[in-house]
Amino acid sequence: MAQSARKPRVTVGANAADRARNLATGAGLVDDPYPKYAELRETGPVHEGSISGVFDMEGPESQGWRDRRNFSLYDWKTVDAMLRDNETYSSSWYEASLGAVVGFSILQMDEPEHRRYRSLVQPAFTRLNIEDWRKRWIQPAVDAIVDGFVERGEPVDIYAELCAKVPVYTIASSFGVAAEDVPHFHELAVTSVGVIGDPAGRIRASNEIADYLRGIIADRRHSGTGDLISVLCTVEIDDPDSGESHHLSDDEILAFARIMLPAGAGTTYRGLGCLFLGLLETGQIDQLREDRSLIDAAIEESLRWEQPLTSISRLSTRDSELGGVKIPAGSVVHGCVAAANRDPARWDDPDTFDIRRPLQPHASFGSGPHLCIGMHLARTEMRCAINAVLDRMPGLRLDPDADKPWITGLLFRTPTAVPVVFDAP
Ligand code: HEM
Repeated sequence: MAQSARKPRVTVGANAADRARNLATGAGLVDDPYPKYAELRETGPVHEGSISGVFDMEGPESQGWRDRRNFSLYDWKTVDAMLRDNETYSSSWYEASLGAVVGFSILQMDEPEHRRYRSLVQPAFTRLNIEDWRKRWIQPAVDAIVDGFVERGEPVDIYAELCAKVPVYTIASSFGVAAEDVPHFHELAVTSVGVIGDPAGRIRASNEIADYLRGIIADRRHSGTGDLISVLCTVEIDDPDSGESHHLSDDEILAFARIMLPAGAGTTYRGLGCLFLGLLETGQIDQLREDRSLIDAAIEESLRWEQPLTSISRLSTRDSELGGVKIPAGSVVHGCVAAANRDPARWDDPDTFDIRRPLQPHASFGSGPHLCIGMHLARTEMRCAINAVLDRMPGLRLDPDADKPWITGLLFRTPTAVPVVFDAP
């Protein structure tokens, strides 16, 4: 992360922009943060200071609010309580990071404004509607991506060739981006969502995405096609002051659309990569081959064990107390999701990846009013990808001749690669 003099062991990522972002957020510098989290949790759930500070780094979670006091939470109960109380712990924290790039989105809003805007898109993301997404956008994207490498029958890194592509291809198609423009759109999306690094480059990429989407919006205002932009063109929002309602402006639609890329594409591919690596390394992929009904449990366990996004931050709006520690108004509060998900008070043997463990909600999709709106979408993308691999890559196993991969990173967790071989179909 920024200001660290340490040399990373590895640079990983889907492309140059992604690699730069991973490096900036601790990939190759912090491989196993969990023993440190366990140590901290044992001495109390709440500690003053940022999470990256524990690893002698200055991570994005504390940048942007440098003059404030920082507090970090390391157990399930306290992280969950903090996220549920959006009045005391405000999402305006995003103002200094993502907000500067994608504009004012629901991620950054507090109640009641947040509820009004979120309810407009929520219907498009229900479990039922996601089945429609699967048929229209996810399955065709997964099939086309797998077609691109499976016929060669050669060793392949499915992290770069499959996981990195599925989420952004899905979102791009749901926006109505033309198939031939998707690779460039992917590049722009990855560049725009860097959490730190060259802000001018990020803003340029984000503006190019906005210009592209403006064209689609103009088109859908005349004739809807049922895609996500068409839905956003038809919904109306009430103005609490006048009591009147209006269609969303282009900028309001763009704020929704632009947040989908970092929120949906920057997270799901990491989750998918960790899932494949966990299954292949432990041999639990064999259990899925025999019984596909275990796929959903495997996805949840993988998200608990190695969550893509490891912390969620807020700004405290008033004096409060968490885990017995006083948090003054104006402080920056970081919920360490990675530590919450391995809290031994909630999960037995939490460091073990075990797809048969009893299911109970993890913190990887957050909690409270900002609970991830795309969670059913992410799960469906992961389910489609794993089914495609089981169907079309018989005998899938880690490539014995490739460098041994591992999972790394502090703000995000990401595998270094998922190199595989398979038998001729
Ligand atoms: C495994 C994949 C994913 C993970 C781990 C994840 C994680 C999260 C988390 C932790 C939050 C809460 C942030 C906060 O409280 O500050 C969130 C919110 C959000 N996510 Fe996801 N997400 C994933 C996939 C997706 C997908 C596929 C989409 C849609 C394309 C999406 C769209 C959103 C949006 C729009 C929000 C903001 C919701 C709000 O503020 O009300 N996410 N996500």
